[in-house]
Amino acid sequence: MKRILFVCLGNICRSPTAHGVFRQLVTREGLVEHFEIESAGTGDWHIGKAPDTRALAKARERGIDISDLRARPVLEEDFFYYHHIFAMDYNNLSDLLDMAPPGGTAEISLFLDWLPGSEGEPVPDPYYGGEQGFDNVFDWVEEASLEILKQLRP
Ligand code: 4NP
Repeated sequence: MKRILFVCLGNICRSPTAHGVFRQLVTREGLVEHFEIESAGTGDWHIGKAPDTRALAKARERGIDISDLRARPVLEEDFFYYHHIFAMDYNNLSDLLDMAPPGGTAEISLFLDWLPGSEGEPVPDPYYGGEQGFDNVFDWVEEASLEILKQLRP
C-alpha cells in the first residue's frame, strides 16, 4: 500500500485535480487497494470547501468527478503517514520543507519532477487566471499521474 498526498496552495484547484485524476487512474487499473490518495493545501483560506467551480467544471468536462473533495490543510502527521508528498510549485515545495518535522519520513518532491522532460517545472497557480490555466493544469496532471503510477505501481 502506497499513501500519497498532493499539495498546492489552496487545495481547491491543482491538488484536488491531481487527487481526482490519480484516483480515477488507479480505479481504472484495478489498483484501488494499493493506493491511499489525499490532497491538502499549505494555505488555510479554503478549509472545508469543495474544489473551485472552474476546476470542477474542467474535471467534469474530462470525465472526472471531484465534487466530493473538501479542502484541508497540510498537517504535521502527514509527514509521517504519507510515503510521497507531491508539491505543485516551488512555493508549495519550500513551504513543505519548512513545515517538515524532524524524523518525518515522507519523500517530498516537485510533482513534475516525475514527468520525464518536465523535471523542474512548476504547475502554475491557475486561480487568478483564465480557463486556459485550468486546461493546462489538467494536461500536466494527466501526464504526470501516468508516470507516477508507472513508477509506484506494485
Ligand atoms: P490552488 O489554487 O493552490 O491550485 O488550489 C489557489 C486557490 C486559492 C488561492 C490561491 C491558489 N487563493 O489565494 O485563495
